[in-house]
Amino acid sequence: MPNDLLIDVQGLTIRSDDALLVDNIGFQIGRERVALVGESGSGKSLTARTLMGLLSPSLHLQAERLQIVGTDALSLRERDWIQLRGSKVAMVMQDPKYALNPTRTIGWQVEEPLVLHHKLSRAERKEKVCEMLDAVGLPDPGQLMKRYPHQLSGGMGQRVMLAIALITDPVLLIADEPTSALDHAMRDQVLALIRRLVEQRNMGLLLISHDLQQVSEHCERVMVMYQGRVLDTLPASELSNASHPYTSTLWACRPSKATHGERLPVLDRAALEKNYD
Ligand SMILES: Nc1ncnc2c1ncn2[C@@H]1O[C@H](COP(=O)(O)OP(=O)(O)O)[C@@H](O)[C@H]1O
Ligand SMILES: [Mg+2]
Repeated sequence: MPNDLLIDVQGLTIRSDDALLVDNIGFQIGRERVALVGESGSGKSLTARTLMGLLSPSLHLQAERLQIVGTDALSLRERDWIQLRGSKVAMVMQDPKYALNPTRTIGWQVEEPLVLHHKLSRAERKEKVCEMLDAVGLPDPGQLMKRYPHQLSGGMGQRVMLAIALITDPVLLIADEPTSALDHAMRDQVLALIRRLVEQRNMGLLLISHDLQQVSEHCERVMVMYQGRVLDTLPASELSNASHPYTSTLWACRPSKATHGERLPVLDRAALEKNYD
């Protein structure tokens, strides 16, 4: 397997007791920025959670291949998943309000993955935490380390989440709608930061997003999901003239400053289902 293949998935299917939720999807991700887009309920989060070993045990997973950073994830036990998540793969979720521990200081929470997964001295850990907080653009790390999550704004909270995710120097970051809880101005700043850090550290990124404008600016490739299937994969630069009708409608439906106040086009679901079922 080439070193640069971070995710290699083939024939991934996820079922609940009564529904097919993800339907035989396959994709590969290297050291590149890939977006996963699609409407709500299309299976994006289930796919991301599968790659982190965090799928609910009530769901049934099947795959021909599930390779994550060179590891065959189909045979991993919970212990191995914890190891993988703490070292090579990291995840940022939607809302820092629910992901940060309200009873622990920021410093404690950013340091914790190092305590669990690295053999560094206390002083070395503190230094790394300071460097990481600085790298995610948080001012005065020394003071910030003593604070609690409720004392931070949403944008700062998401930067802290990013610091926690990256402190162990993972090679792959999975970000599930990392900016959807933030206000508009902050979204682009946080996305630009994620992009810069991923580039600087030569990592791979799987970004789940609703915001096609954002995706086209910060990602290199796009995968489009619809009802549990990957309908289309294309370079992000081609979003504006996508040939697949679903992708081009998604692009046309994106809200932007230019279309503010105008009526947006609506998906013609009946036509789609006729063509792609
Ligand atoms: N634990 C679960 N049990 C049963 N159905 C689930 C579970 N988690 C998600 N689903 C269903 O799977 C589908 C895809 O969910 P999800 O991956 O969260 O979509 P999204 O693309 O919005 O992230 C949805 O219809 C959702 O209701
Ligand atoms: Mg989701």
